[in-house]
Amino acid sequence: MFITLEGPEGSGKTSHIPHLVEYLREKGYVVFPTREPGGTSISEQIRDILHDLKNAEMHARTETLLYQAARSQIVEQVIKPRLAKGEIVISDRYYDSTIAYQGYGHQQNLEEVRALVKYATAGLTPDLTILLDLDVEVGLKRKKQNESEWNRMDDHEVNFYRRVRAGYLEMVKQEPKRWIVVNSEQKWDDVQEELKRVIVGKLKVEG
Ligand SMILES: Nc1ncnc2c1ncn2[C@@H]1O[C@H](COP(=O)(O)OP(=O)(O)O)[C@@H](O)[C@H]1O
Ligand SMILES: [Mg+2]
Repeated sequence: MFITLEGPEGSGKTSHIPHLVEYLREKGYVVFPTREPGGTSISEQIRDILHDLKNAEMHARTETLLYQAARSQIVEQVIKPRLAKGEIVISDRYYDSTIAYQGYGHQQNLEEVRALVKYATAGLTPDLTILLDLDVEVGLKRKKQNESEWNRMDDHEVNFYRRVRAGYLEMVKQEPKRWIVVNSEQKWDDVQEELKRVIVGKLKVEG
């Protein structure tokens, strides 16, 4: 089972995952959390380039390609082998982030971006993708209160994040079977409970 969490800045992806992992492990599942970009030595080095606030001149195509380079490495080195062993992999972002940010956000050609993503992942699609959806300004405010995490990808104008959110919601419409939307403007504990319910529900259906 391959589960991905998506959503704009401050939607709660990074803070929810460790608790979900602990919960599922207590239930006896073997769970491996990972994050994008990153999760391997090569991918973490690429992450540093992508997030460095000094790299303000980075072109959208450069950015798109660097994400795919980081992604192909984690898919081959980590995600595929873990899934092959029957583990649950939970990723903090995956290729839908590229379609949302580089596609809708930077307004790159969506078909070209989808082709790159397919190449980078060798077609590996999540079984379940959860969109933590919230008003982008609420999310950015949360993120700003947590300044240690501020990076180049948090530093766009607010309309960029509005396009990202609209893009995510469009992607949900296009693939309603894979996506579940959770309202992350709720209290953190309520979001956590809903995430547990959604994931356990999916695990039961898949057996
Ligand atoms: N539902 C929530 N209510 C209030 N604060 C939240 C909620 N979800 C997340 N936060 C806070 O917002 C900040 C960003 O959350 P984080 O999990 O890092 O989001 P993301 O990884 O999606 O950018 C953190 O300080 C986190 O504690
Ligand atoms: Mg995060």
